[in-house]
Amino acid sequence: MGNASLRAADGNKDDEFYTGYDDIKKELVNYAKYFKGKVIYCNCDDHYGIGLGTPKSNFLKYLADNFEAFQIKKVIATHYEKDKDRSTMYILDKDNTGDGIICFEDIAEIPMQGNGDFRSPECIKLLKQADIVITNPPFSLFREYVAQLMEYKKKFLIIGNKNALSYKEIFTIIKNNEVWLGYNSPSDFTYKGEPTKKITGLTRWFTNLVNSKRNEFLHTGKKYYGFENMYPHYDNYDAINVDKVGDIPMDYDGVMGVPITFMDKYNPEQFEIIDGLNRYTILDVAKVNDWAKANHIHLTEINGKSKYLRILIKRKK
Ligand SMILES: C[S@@+](CC[C@H](N)C(=O)[O-])C[C@H]1O[C@@H](n2cnc3c(N)ncnc32)[C@H](O)[C@@H]1O
Repeated sequence: MGNASLRAADGNKDDEFYTGYDDIKKELVNYAKYFKGKVIYCNCDDHYGIGLGTPKSNFLKYLADNFEAFQIKKVIATHYEKDKDRSTMYILDKDNTGDGIICFEDIAEIPMQGNGDFRSPECIKLLKQADIVITNPPFSLFREYVAQLMEYKKKFLIIGNKNALSYKEIFTIIKNNEVWLGYNSPSDFTYKGEPTKKITGLTRWFTNLVNSKRNEFLHTGKKYYGFENMYPHYDNYDAINVDKVGDIPMDYDGVMGVPITFMDKYNPEQFEIIDGLNRYTILDVAKVNDWAKANHIHLTEINGKSKYLRILIKRKK
């Protein structure tokens, strides 16, 4: 079997990118104060080919390496064995080797009843015990994955595809300030034993742990008044169009349509997110809960030409 068919047989390739240690370190270190005395659960924790002892991830490695420094209470890691009936759970909570420190070598292996699917009753039971969930879940199940975390009211720090920002479910919780983006965009991923790949800019950390990034004010130095022709109105919607985040005018009080990358700069004290605009409004779709029934008008058109997805924002006074 060639490489391509091997991958096809493997399921969704986008689900099988494993996160680099440095990307994890760069983000998690910012939240260390939240980990003290907490149970951390990594519930999509596969990783192959980096010599950690299959299938332990760099998440488990980083949390084990910093278990004592962060004063973590317990780390639980489970992974999905799609072709087996039973998986193994990894637990770190005490000095099993008796050498006086709690570290990676102290991870205990416990057989599971089921295959480690994050949706299984066994994994949900573990989820209920956890304070914070940290992982890189399968992109293809991202909506369902986040819905489960919200249902069980968990704190989390997870990696997702940037495109997930335009999913109505994810957009809505970001708009409602229930979830926001982390500090970095992870970039070093490995695909099952293949050399590390730089995948720059495509993924983001999604979290509901408070971080200081969302309190930073955006200053572009750009003005609307005097430069009105740079910011045309949409044909069918009362808002001006802004093509680049760096061009957002600082003196405009009306509604502005900005690119989705605005989410990286979103500070809820500075701006309010009103809606998303594409062929339909994202919130319209949320209301009828069906893309097909939503209002199919090219709301972002300017002189009959459609723009890409825009986030509608308004400056707060
Ligand atoms: C993007 S990978 C990341 C793996 C690891 N967390 C890391 O960052 O190195 C997502 C993993 O979730 C696994 N997965 C797929 N479906 C799952 C399910 N229903 N429950 C738990 N894990 C699942 C995939 O097999 C894949 O290994």
